Amino acid sequence: MSDMGPIPTVKAKVAKIPLVGLGTWDLRGRTCARVVEQALRLGYRHVDTAEMYDNEREVGDGLHASGVKRNDVFVTTKIWPSHFAPRELERAARDCLVRLRLSEVDLLLLHWPNPQIPLAETLGALCKVKRDGLARHIGVSNFTVALIEEALQISSEPLVCDQVECHPFLDQSKIIAACREHGMAVVAYSPIARGNARNDKVLTRIGSAHKKTAAQTCLRFLVQQDIVVIPRTSKLERLSENAAIFDFQLSDEEMAEIAALGSRDGRIVDWAYSGRMKWD
Ligand SMILES: NC(=O)c1ccc[n+]([C@@H]2O[C@H](COP(=O)([O-])OP(=O)(O)OC[C@H]3O[C@@H](n4cnc5c(N)ncnc54)[C@H](OP(=O)(O)O)[C@@H]3O)[C@@H](O)[C@H]2O)c1
Repeated sequence: MSDMGPIPTVKAKVAKIPLVGLGTWDLRGRTCARVVEQALRLGYRHVDTAEMYDNEREVGDGLHASGVKRNDVFVTTKIWPSHFAPRELERAARDCLVRLRLSEVDLLLLHWPNPQIPLAETLGALCKVKRDGLARHIGVSNFTVALIEEALQISSEPLVCDQVECHPFLDQSKIIAACREHGMAVVAYSPIARGNARNDKVLTRIGSAHKKTAAQTCLRFLVQQDIVVIPRTSKLERLSENAAIFDFQLSDEEMAEIAALGSRDGRIVDWAYSGRMKWD
């Protein structure tokens, strides 16, 4: 059924995470279910959703329709910060599983930091949810270096990743270094900069030397650093394109040229919710 090779995984503490996953933010209804099903049929083995995306039911429909065995797919969902009080978190996690029609997810993340609830309480609840068998692994998203370090001190269970905005136009070297130091994976959201990579001259030129598109070159730049990518597309033909990034290698010079596109203020996702904290 699969028409691409197996997608490599990255090891993060006890977790093995496929380097390419399907992002599903903004995919809704039948389109969402169809894209998830097709991605899995093509060979994707990692799907990223969140309670906030309001599409877990459709993601679950796509997973079940694909016929791919449950154990072969890595499913991530995220708890929204308004559910970070311990009892709320446990209830929210159970609700996610009901909507997905799964007995556990592979990875459960805190979606954004919530300064109004003590991190120790939230992490205590997240660890309990894991111990109760609702999630195989736990992690965080949109956490700064300082917050990762605080979380690692508190958590009684391994935190396997920080999911953050990451693409060539945003310099995330500090968060990447901190994750490496602590054995956590970086999961790159908006990895093609919401489609902006497509029009970039450097990515287009380097890509054409490898017979690849700018989007593929952008994703390759990340996975070549062992950064997990979760590009989202609503177009079936782009599913294969976004995963066909393991049959070429960027040279050190090409990697450096792409890295030079990054700046500290290259963020595209609105950070209003987090109170605009600094990342280091
Ligand atoms: N943790 C968080 O706070 C957080 C925040 C944002 C996102 N995320 C996750 O990360 C995922 C990905 O991020 P994202 O959706 O913001 O952005 P993205 O994946 O960087 O970009 C998606 C956009 O790029 C286009 N696109 C996809 N493949 C393409 C290709 N090969 N060539 C040209 N354009 C292409 C898509 O359009 P078409 O649909 O027309 O292909 C879509 O408009 C989300 O879906 C979500 O799962 C997490």
